[in-house]
Amino acid sequence: MTGRIPEEKVNEIRQSIDIVDVIGDYVQLKKQGRNYFGLCPFHGESTPSFSVSPDKQIFHCFGCGAGGNAYTFLMDIDGISFQEAVVKLAGKAGQELSVDVNQVETTASRDEEKMIEAHELLSKFYHHLLVNTKEGQDALEYLLERGFTRESIDKFQIGWSLPSWEFTVNFLTKRGFPPDLMEQAGLLVKRENEDHYFDRFRGRVMFPIRDHRGKTIAFSGRAMGGEEPKYLNSPETKIFNKSSVLYNFNNARPVIRRKSQAILFEGFADVISADSAGVENGIASMGTSLTPKHMQMLKRMTDSVVICYDGDKAGIEAAFRAAKMLNEEQFNIRISMIPEKLDPDDYIKKYSAEKFQNDVIGASLTFMAFKLIYFRQGKNLNDEGDRLQYIEEVLKEVSALQNHIERDYYLRQLADEFSLSLQALEQQQKQIYFSSKKSDRREQRNQDFAPRVQPKAENKLFPAYHTAERRLIAHMMKDPDIAFKVQNLLNGSSFNLDEHQAIITYLFGYYEEGNEADSSGFIQFLPDSRLRRVVSEIGMMSISDECSEQELIDYVNQVLKHQKMLTIKEKQLAQKEAERQNDYKKAALIAMEILQLRKSL
Ligand code: UTP
Ligand code: MN
Repeated sequence: MTGRIPEEKVNEIRQSIDIVDVIGDYVQLKKQGRNYFGLCPFHGESTPSFSVSPDKQIFHCFGCGAGGNAYTFLMDIDGISFQEAVVKLAGKAGQELSVDVNQVETTASRDEEKMIEAHELLSKFYHHLLVNTKEGQDALEYLLERGFTRESIDKFQIGWSLPSWEFTVNFLTKRGFPPDLMEQAGLLVKRENEDHYFDRFRGRVMFPIRDHRGKTIAFSGRAMGGEEPKYLNSPETKIFNKSSVLYNFNNARPVIRRKSQAILFEGFADVISADSAGVENGIASMGTSLTPKHMQMLKRMTDSVVICYDGDKAGIEAAFRAAKMLNEEQFNIRISMIPEKLDPDDYIKKYSAEKFQNDVIGASLTFMAFKLIYFRQGKNLNDEGDRLQYIEEVLKEVSALQNHIERDYYLRQLADEFSLSLQALEQQQKQIYFSSKKSDRREQRNQDFAPRVQPKAENKLFPAYHTAERRLIAHMMKDPDIAFKVQNLLNGSSFNLDEHQAIITYLFGYYEEGNEADSSGFIQFLPDSRLRRVVSEIGMMSISDECSEQELIDYVNQVLKHQKMLTIKEKQLAQKEAERQNDYKKAALIAMEILQLRKSL
């Protein structure tokens, strides 16, 4: 499966990196015992059943069965080919390795691949138009005027689409992209009832939207003047699904992991601005509110999110909604308030990158502190009615706080501000608490993210022969001598489960080629992803380091016993059939055979 990259190179790269680092860029991992645990990136879950073994350099999810080594992880999560995964890891290991990407087999469907290819090509060309040509000069000046730097224009590959109806049509057609497919990709628009296509994006500053791999899958085009809409986005397509795309996620991901914090912005202009101000862990949704999918993507990276929305009324409302959603998903959240109703981009322009870092991001509020401000909105606190309503709203929030000291802190603050007796406030807060308690079971849900699962690989209720086969495989993967001992003990018989039999057949082949025991290496040797999943699960079993001859014999006997039982069952059927046909001689013979088999058990 290695194509043109030499086997030794593939292994060398794999051995020079740590799977925990590789997966750590995508999943928040916490150490527990010998292994690391996190939320599985391949299926939605709220308690971690995804485990990574640094000893064996493999991963496995006990929830969905995904499993493999560092290469297969990248292949699955990024949807890339084996060669691409090798190249990627080589980069991580600091080695230069080039492979002709066009020759590389990919996993996406042909059509989707073409759509992405067109986006990639166009984003390069739009960028070229913006930075190198006379046609793009006005747009470039507009961007620089706005405070975009040349570096960020390059980094985010911002471009310019010509104010033409057929430039993109021709550009794509000339390069062999079928117009109907390009219409599906959202790049072209078809005139109603006519077989005629025209450009969707005309005379706009083009922002490529990239997926988690960094591939361009859509565009957002900003009008230069006051045309509507201000931002024209690609429609939903096979390759672009707004609810599962976060702008800049691919760049921000490693920084989010490193800083253990993500900054959520409202618009991608803010993300770019913040990035050039040194805030590189910023992301934004594509003009939609936060979806469960977005939060799932974030949760794999971090528990902490700073919400940094526009400082106007709409922004504060949106921040409150986002905060509530993130809070429900057990994120630790802070909210940055931007003064003067500015948005982050304007603030950085007006003040400075440094002031943004310190006074906005650095001075973000806890959710509770934010609520104190939020509930004030639209109220006149000199008015008694408004004031009482405000106090009531705050007390309700205080009641929901888990921490006694925190509750006390806010109650004191309220007492001070409104010259109220602390005792009376405490009293009222307790009342609110008890009356809401019955329906409220949030205590249990508010527990911190903590790996609670105990992987149940060995405890799964498998029949004895099944468990015996798995244990044998686990031992055989650890030591070639054991593998060959088992081969002798089996004496030509096979394992009962076809998958297990296939695995040991490959394992013998693997050892016969002179490879040493190495779960991760063996996984790579397996050509079938289904087998890789089984092997990763078996690899995660904790088995004793030592394995006596007797233990092996017992396991093998379990395996063989099952086969004999099956034979007995078959013979019993044959016996009945013989009796039915009044062939008592034959029935007696079979009965003898069954007796023999039973004895041997
Ligand atoms: P804003 O109107 O706050 O834009 O919309 P902005 O980010 O400040 O951009 P500039 O500074 O005016 O250039 C916030 C986000 O809402 C989405 C975009 O994702 C934008 O980044 N939006 C806005 C649209 O999708 N379409 C629009 O017409 C406007
Ligand atoms: Mn703005």
